[in-house]
Amino acid sequence: MRAVVCHRYGGPEVARIEHVAEPSLGDGEVLVRVVASSVNRTDCGVRKAKPWFARLFYGLRGPRQPILGSEFAGVVEQVGTGASRFAVGDRVFGFGDEGMGGHAELLARHEEGMIAPIPDELSFEQAAVATEGAHYAGTTLRATGVGPGSDVLVYGASGGIGSAAVQLALHLGARVVAVCGTDAVERVAALGPDRVVDYQREDFAAIGERFDLVFDAVGKTSFRTCRPLLRDDGDFAVTDFGPRYQNPFLVLPTRFLPGPRVRFPLPRNGPESMAFVVDALGGRYRPLVDRTYELDDIVEAYRYVETERKVGNVVLRVAPAPDDGADGAAGELGGG
Ligand SMILES: NC(=O)c1ccc[n+]([C@@H]2O[C@H](COP(=O)([O-])OP(=O)(O)OC[C@H]3O[C@@H](n4cnc5c(N)ncnc54)[C@H](OP(=O)(O)O)[C@@H]3O)[C@@H](O)[C@H]2O)c1
Repeated sequence: MRAVVCHRYGGPEVARIEHVAEPSLGDGEVLVRVVASSVNRTDCGVRKAKPWFARLFYGLRGPRQPILGSEFAGVVEQVGTGASRFAVGDRVFGFGDEGMGGHAELLARHEEGMIAPIPDELSFEQAAVATEGAHYAGTTLRATGVGPGSDVLVYGASGGIGSAAVQLALHLGARVVAVCGTDAVERVAALGPDRVVDYQREDFAAIGERFDLVFDAVGKTSFRTCRPLLRDDGDFAVTDFGPRYQNPFLVLPTRFLPGPRVRFPLPRNGPESMAFVVDALGGRYRPLVDRTYELDDIVEAYRYVETERKVGNVVLRVAPAPDDGADGAAGELGGG
């Protein structure tokens, strides 16, 4: 089968298209013929081993699993011994940043992992970018208890995680203020937040409102900057170490000092998080699609994602969608 293979850590150019052996199917696994995947910041982080300690998890000298791609959408081609949740021909999608493997024509996944049927109204390409941002954003929103009546500000509302966070917080019943740069204002406003603040035209920390949660979804602001926006029992939650790697060091002290806390919730891959994503897709959540690249253009796709300026998500088209009508029918939803 064709796959994007990274035999060593490095820049986008280490990603090569190769013909490799098809994955073998273990107990409880299904074989998925991949139609689409994504290129996201997790793939970039693993490919270049950044931060350095990623090597402890992914391999010291090079990626232990050389086929990256944490997200996938495709069709079940074969069902392994002991697997019973899916049948051959089912449209499925999912996530896995331990096994990766989405940048290939075939992928084996345990049926108890983060894998689910694609909702009828979603195309393969939309489904391929529906999980990563929502998994990370959902982790933070659930850990900080966001629900009806919560006031939430999302900084970095145009990114993969941020655009999911805006929609998921609304789905959970929160009031949402979304902060992004000028170029993204229109696309972020279309996600439905109560207010959009353009940080290039206005000091977002001086808007005179208080929030239960300020979610820095891109790691580009700081607790210090956002402190005036937080209620005394509020949370400043992050997905990144922050501009000076300060965030992890603030979690413990702010837990015991009076006033708002810094939170760095760690995502746990599992069926619970997948069920949360599927539930949100049954409501208002639609992943924001920025660009689509063909498998052969993987290096260009990596270069674009590493500008850190994508708006929402980048699709990697691995193979033509089977002609089941669903992709055409769903093509109008979501994407930018
Ligand atoms: N904790 C985890 O397990 C985990 C997993 C994946 C990713 N991450 C981290 O989460 C962060 C977000 O990932 P992502 O995929 O959502 O990112 P992304 O999609 O690449 O974010 C792109 C957006 O970031 C915004 N941005 C770039 N520079 C900015 C700045 N200086 N100030 C404000 N906004 C800026 C841009 O929006 P504007 O043009 O509107 O400013 C752009 O639309 C990354 O730091 C990534 O490393 C963490």
